[in-house]
Amino acid sequence: MSSRPASDRRVTFADLAEKKAAGEPIAMVTAYDHPSARVADEAGVDIVLVGDSAAMTVLGYDSTVPVTVDELITLTSAVRRGLSRPLLVADLPFGSYEASDEQAVATAQRFVKTTGCDAVKIERGGTSVDRARAIVASGIAVMGHVGLTPQTATVLGGYRSQGRTADEALALCRSALALQDAGCFAIVFEAIPSDVTEAIMPRMQVPVIGIGAGPAADGQVLVFHDLLGIYEGRPARFVKRYAELRQAMIDGVAAYAADVRSGGYPAREHGYAMAPDESARLRELLTAL
Ligand code: KIV
Repeated sequence: MSSRPASDRRVTFADLAEKKAAGEPIAMVTAYDHPSARVADEAGVDIVLVGDSAAMTVLGYDSTVPVTVDELITLTSAVRRGLSRPLLVADLPFGSYEASDEQAVATAQRFVKTTGCDAVKIERGGTSVDRARAIVASGIAVMGHVGLTPQTATVLGGYRSQGRTADEALALCRSALALQDAGCFAIVFEAIPSDVTEAIMPRMQVPVIGIGAGPAADGQVLVFHDLLGIYEGRPARFVKRYAELRQAMIDGVAAYAADVRSGGYPAREHGYAMAPDESARLRELLTAL
C-alpha cells in the first residue's frame, strides 16, 4: 500500500495551519537533489527543506558555514524539478541575510525567482527577527529556526542542545514568539528539551517543527541522509535510523567491482547485438583495412 496521501495537489500554507489546528502531525524531510526529491515526494511528506545541511551531507564541508548561495540554488532547483506535492523550503545560507533587511530580501527574492521554492528559512532570533519581518513584508514566506542553530554553533558552544536552564529556555521562547509575531509561517525547534517545547506550545499559533525537540511539536523534520543511514558521520542523539543505505550502497558497488574483476559483468544480456550478416560484413571489411 502506498503511503502517498489521497490528494495529489500541492501542499499550501493553509494546509499546514489546518493540520496544526486538527492536531495532525506534519512530516518534513530534507532533500538535496532530484532523486531524493522524488523519493520524498512519493513517500508523501508535507514539507521538503533544502537545508544548508547540504554543506555536510552532499558537499563535503565540515560545517554548514561555507556553503554558498550559488551552491544551494543549484541544489534547490534540482529538488524543485523533482517535487510535485510537498511545500518546498530553501535555507538561506550563513552570510547571505544577516547584514541588513535589504540583503535578506534580495537573497530571498533570488531564491524564489531562480529556484521556484515556496518559502525560505533563516536561523536564530535577535536580528533575524527583523530580517524575517522584512522578507515576509516583501511577499515571501519565512520559516524560523531556533534552539541549536548550526550556522552560529560556535557561539552556542558547539553542536549541543540548547535551552537547558530556565533562563536559556525563556530566551529561546522569546525568540520563537518574536519570529511568530514577525510573520513566520512555521518555526523549527532544534535540539531543545522536550519540556521546553511542551511549555511553549500553548502560545504557538504557527506550526512548530521539531528536530530533537520532543513529541509536543506540531511536526518533525529529519535530515534525509541521517534517517536513511547514508551519512558517514556520527548521528545526533535525536536521529532515528529507518534504513542503512550507506552499507547497502557500499555492498552494491563492491559487488559490481568484484564482478568486473572476475568477468561476471557484463554478461551477454548487457550488450547490444548486431545482425549476423552485418557482423560478417564488418569482419570482411576489417580484413581489407
Ligand atoms: O539544514 C538543515 O537540514 C536544517 C534542518 C535540520 C532543520 O536546518
